Amino acid sequence: MNKLIVKDLKYTYQDGQKVNAVLKGVNVEFESGKLYCIIGESGSGKTTLISLISALDDLQEGDILYNNKSIKKIGNSEFRLNYVNIVFQSYNLLTYMTARENVEVAVDFSKVKYDKDYIYKTLERVGIDKEKADRPVLKLSGGEQQRVAVARCIATDEPIIVADEPTGNLDEETEEKIIKIFKELAKNDKIVILVSHSKNVAKHADVVYNIKKGVIDI
Ligand SMILES: Nc1ncnc2c1ncn2[C@@H]1O[C@H](COP(=O)(O)OP(=O)(O)OP(=O)(O)O)[C@@H](O)[C@H]1O
Ligand SMILES: [Mg+2]
Repeated sequence: MNKLIVKDLKYTYQDGQKVNAVLKGVNVEFESGKLYCIIGESGSGKTTLISLISALDDLQEGDILYNNKSIKKIGNSEFRLNYVNIVFQSYNLLTYMTARENVEVAVDFSKVKYDKDYIYKTLERVGIDKEKADRPVLKLSGGEQQRVAVARCIATDEPIIVADEPTGNLDEETEEKIIKIFKELAKNDKIVILVSHSKNVAKHADVVYNIKKGVIDI
C-alpha cells in the first residue's frame, strides 16, 4: 500500500502588499486503493493544495511525505515525472496537436511501453473515438478536451493521480463513466485524488475532505 501524508501544510500568496494565507495548517492522509474527493468553496485553496501535492510549487511550511519520504528529498521534477499525474482544471492540452498526440507525448515521457493502438484504446475508454483522436484538440468540444486530459492522465502509470474538476464540463452520463475509470484506477492500487464541486463525484468517493478557512474541516 502506498501512502501520502500532508503534514501541517501552510501556504501564502504574496500579491504586492497583500498577503493571502490560503492554507493554514492542512493535515490529511491519502492511501492507495481509495478514491478521494476534495470539496470546498471557490477560492478555498483546493487547487493550491493539489498543486503542492503534485510538486508544481515549492513547499513553504509543512511537508508532504510519500511512503514516509519527503517530496523535498525526492525533488520536484523527479516527483512530477515518476510519481504523480495531473488533470488540470484548465486541461493544459497542447493546442497545436491532435488528441492522440497529446496522450502520446505524455506516455513518451513515462516508463510505459506502448503501441499506437494503446493510445487510441485509452482515448476510447473516455469516449473519444478514432476520428476525434486524430483531430487537433481545439476542434473538439470543451467536454471532449476534458476527456482527452483525463486520457492523458490515465495513460501513464504513476502511483498518484490528481485531478482538478475532471468532470466539470461533462454531462451526467459521461461524468459517471469518468468516475468509474478513476475508481478502477484506485482499485488498481493508485492514490486517486479528485477535486470537485459535483455532488455526484463526492457521492462515489470513498473519502471526502472539505477544505474550509485554510484547514481540512472534519
Ligand atoms: N498565483 C496566485 N497568486 C496570488 N493569489 C493566488 C494565486 N493562485 C491562487 N490565488 C488565490 O488563492 C486563493 C485560493 O485559490 P485556489 O485556486 O487554490 O482556489 P480553489 O479552491 O481551487 O478555487 P476554485 O474552486 O474556484 O477553483 C484564491 O483566493 C486565489 O485568488
Ligand atoms: Mg481550483
